[in-house]
Amino acid sequence: MGKQFWKPGNLLYPLPVIMVSCQRSGEKPNIITLAWAGTICSDPAMLSVSIRKERHSYDIIKETGEFGVNLVTEDLVYATDYCGVKSGKDIDKFGEMKLTPLPSKIIAPPGISESPVNLECKVKDFLPLGSHDMFLAEIVNVTIDDSYLDSTDKFQLNQTKLVAYSHGEYFGLGEKLGKFGYSVEKKKP
Ligand SMILES: Cc1cc2nc3c(=O)[nH]c(=O)nc-3n(C[C@H](O)[C@H](O)[C@H](O)COP(=O)(O)O)c2cc1C
Repeated sequence: MGKQFWKPGNLLYPLPVIMVSCQRSGEKPNIITLAWAGTICSDPAMLSVSIRKERHSYDIIKETGEFGVNLVTEDLVYATDYCGVKSGKDIDKFGEMKLTPLPSKIIAPPGISESPVNLECKVKDFLPLGSHDMFLAEIVNVTIDDSYLDSTDKFQLNQTKLVAYSHGEYFGLGEKLGKFGYSVEKKKP
């Protein structure tokens, strides 16, 4: 029993898994599943996605500079996996997975109506890295499903059953363990 040195590799987990929607003008919208994605700035609100050049969606996003990020719930995990193994150059993933395009407010590509959160993104920067190239994008509009607003109008995102991706597998989020800052909160006597 001990510790082992391994060659460098991606073991930063868990990660969000997201469904990214994109569309070239005059074509049907496409969906690509991504896990190499992250929040990178609060103001302006920005995120990054890293995509291999071989993906059908890569050229679409590079050309249009726009994409939608759709959060994945347990109900969407099957479609998420499917959109991550089939290419939009061969099939219509919205149609095959019976997903409903949701018109966006600012960008051209639609979101996915079945997702509780849709982030409209505009590419601001591009970083060629190696196997993947990174698109750094500003979030220019957020759409939420208001059936998750509680009686005080607070958005109950953690009731939507979001999914995490870890080491090749999808997981539900499990039990709540604490909240931001709870470690320093004054305990009630
Ligand atoms: C869970 C999961 C995560 C993935 N993450 C990425 C990613 O971060 N970057 C990437 O280029 N491909 C990723 N893929 C692979 C693409 O989703 C897959 O190649 C897809 O078929 C590409 O679709 P397209 O050709 O229609 O663009 C992932 C696939 C799965 C199942």
